[in-house]
Amino acid sequence: MISSRKANSVPYTAGKAVIEPMDTQQVRRRYDEMADNWRLLGIVDSLMLINRLRKKHIGTASGAVLDVACGTGENFPYFRYSSSITAVDLSAEMIDEARRRRDQLGIAVDLVVGDAQALPFGDDTFDTVVSALSTCTIPDYVSAFHEMTRVVRRGGRILLLEHGRSSVGWVARRQDHHLDRVYARSACRNNRDVGAELTEAGLAPVSSVRSHLGTVNRITIQG
Ligand SMILES: C[S@@+](CC[C@H](N)C(=O)[O-])C[C@H]1O[C@@H](n2cnc3c(N)ncnc32)[C@H](O)[C@@H]1O
Repeated sequence: MISSRKANSVPYTAGKAVIEPMDTQQVRRRYDEMADNWRLLGIVDSLMLINRLRKKHIGTASGAVLDVACGTGENFPYFRYSSSITAVDLSAEMIDEARRRRDQLGIAVDLVVGDAQALPFGDDTFDTVVSALSTCTIPDYVSAFHEMTRVVRRGGRILLLEHGRSSVGWVARRQDHHLDRVYARSACRNNRDVGAELTEAGLAPVSSVRSHLGTVNRITIQG
């Protein structure tokens, strides 16, 4: 089921401009359109050493793993300790690219088209839930965080690789300045406050480590 809800009430702001939030269908269309070229971003991933963070953080996922908003499957090469991998994304086109990636890697991944705001899985299904660079694009991110906690078993882990507003002043100001352009292109709220969003969802990470001039967070939440 795809939620038609808009973002959590408040419009996003870039400087003085107010960005009209996309709803879930608009976000899905945006990613359907970009899917063909999205894998090129893998090059940016490598240049920015994001793939190292995937390996170091997301790669510790163990047991039955769910990859939420998996995109083209950039996390897939790093699942070394999983007993099974399920991956869900809103965009059928992104899932098609993820299928190609899975087949190239020769690994088993159960691919599902679905909405992170209403995950099509039962309670306590997974040992580890991961999500990378994605909750910035989900309109109702609070519901998405709640859904992750619902489907992870008690004692399991939620591993997030998030990006958001820098802790470094001039970088944060540049992010504010470019929000409208970045949001129009990829539905990404690049200057969101990840910590505040987790607090809004009632979640308290057991660890949160920043890198990349304070723009990238490796977050662990206990299930
Ligand atoms: C910036 S991409 C990141 C993809 C991938 N996780 C990665 O690390 O490369 C954001 C992804 O979130 C997906 N997405 C956005 N809203 C979603 C939702 N409500 N439910 C599931 N996936 C969603 C998009 O379709 C897109 O594939």
